Amino acid sequence: MASSTSAAPIGLALLGAGNIGSAVVAAVQRAGERYAARVGAPLEVRRVLVRDTSKARPGLEPSQITDRIEDVLADEGASIVIEFMGGEEPARTYIEMALNSGRHVVTANKEVMAKHGAALLQLAYDRGVRLQYEASVGGGIPVIAPLSRDLLANEVTAVTAIINGTTNYMLTAMTQQGAGYEEVLAEAQRLGYAEPDPTADVEGIDAAYKIAVLCGLAFNVDVAPTEVDRRGISTITARDIAYAAQLGYVIKLLARARLVDGEIEATVRPTLVGASEPLAKVDGVLNAVQFEGDLVGRVMFEGPGAGQGPTASSILADVLDVAQDVAQGRKPLAFIPRRKLRVRPAEEHEARAYLRIGVLDQPGVLAAIATALGDEGVSISSVLQYESEYTGGDEGTAELVLTTHGAPGRAFAAALDVIRELDVVREIGNVLPMEG
Ligand code: NAP
Ligand code: HSE
Repeated sequence: MASSTSAAPIGLALLGAGNIGSAVVAAVQRAGERYAARVGAPLEVRRVLVRDTSKARPGLEPSQITDRIEDVLADEGASIVIEFMGGEEPARTYIEMALNSGRHVVTANKEVMAKHGAALLQLAYDRGVRLQYEASVGGGIPVIAPLSRDLLANEVTAVTAIINGTTNYMLTAMTQQGAGYEEVLAEAQRLGYAEPDPTADVEGIDAAYKIAVLCGLAFNVDVAPTEVDRRGISTITARDIAYAAQLGYVIKLLARARLVDGEIEATVRPTLVGASEPLAKVDGVLNAVQFEGDLVGRVMFEGPGAGQGPTASSILADVLDVAQDVAQGRKPLAFIPRRKLRVRPAEEHEARAYLRIGVLDQPGVLAAIATALGDEGVSISSVLQYESEYTGGDEGTAELVLTTHGAPGRAFAAALDVIRELDVVREIGNVLPMEG
């Protein structure tokens, strides 16, 4: 790469050269001069680890390609390792090896950072190197850097986010077209937004990794992805979307984390969001992350949460930042070991709720359901009934849509146990939290 600086190049080793890796290679080639001027030294892509060494890799020489991590780490000329292989293993092991070998690491891997972030960040600090992960959450949206720097003076009390583009695309399509879940999933797969196996996105697994990563930074607490109370969107029907709209709400897959009385609540759930709330207006594949801090109040970052360009943008921001440190011999900031705070189980989370219940259209049904809720201290806020002409259900059936005032998860669970057993109840449809 031609460069206007005479400083020694800063070598990059790449772990992966797929969708995102190839976009990073292309950007380094296209904008190398500009990056060199920023850093004070040119960037040089050196060895590249892949699975299949026989594939053509545009912009890379066959001699750069290897399927052995040992070849990559033996290259003394590479001081920054960029990991975009994906998956937990062997990515975690390779990141650990790179840090142990004294390399700085930039990763896009939410699963590794969610499950092993604290240990790897501690290791990086112990080795005097940096581990950066901006692209692991929110694709091209700056999220990790603002939390690590710009919001540092705040006690962050809440993070509320739409951090999965696939599900946001699907819920938006259901809202705008009145389409059903299966129909929009097929469309999302055809457009390449959803994977052939969509489980990680539609069941909220991807979003749970990302909110766990954000908990580490926002609250300085290690939250395991398994501690995130997670529900996906696969049970959401076109009727839920329509009922929510009639109530003045939009259904979004919200990832939330809150600091409440010194404890953490972390959830990923389809949620009714007030239609006038900023997050309700984040549509399609866009992501948005909203932080609440004691000094700043509420701030929201919105933008493309995935894709080659946006993800390469975040990865290269980390690479340029680390490369500046390398060029100027700067030392990384301290890593503060994470606090241990209790993560509350869902039964302790207090929220308003939307309930859709399939019933027989008979006298006393509403009273029986209201009694079951009232006995557990759940106060009803509104009630709507949709008859079979509207729902398309069997004659003599109806759907009740209730909204409630705030109550703890355990109260809803106990009331629903009673409601489920009522002879007149055919189905508990969806029970969803409400915001705004
Ligand atoms: P991808 O297209 O599947 O690319 C993965 C690359 O890693 C391929 O080059 C693959 O080699 C290589 N690889 C995978 N396992 C390997 C192994 N065991 N040994 C050696 N090489 C291996 O994935 P991607 O879409 O680029 O995503 C990469 C990472 O970025 C993931 O962590 C993902 O979560 C994250 N990310 C992606 C997006 C997005 O929009 N796609 C957004 C944000 C973050 P072959 O080429 O030989 O198969
Ligand atoms: N599957 C993810 C999404 C890609 O749909 O947002 C980025 O992590």
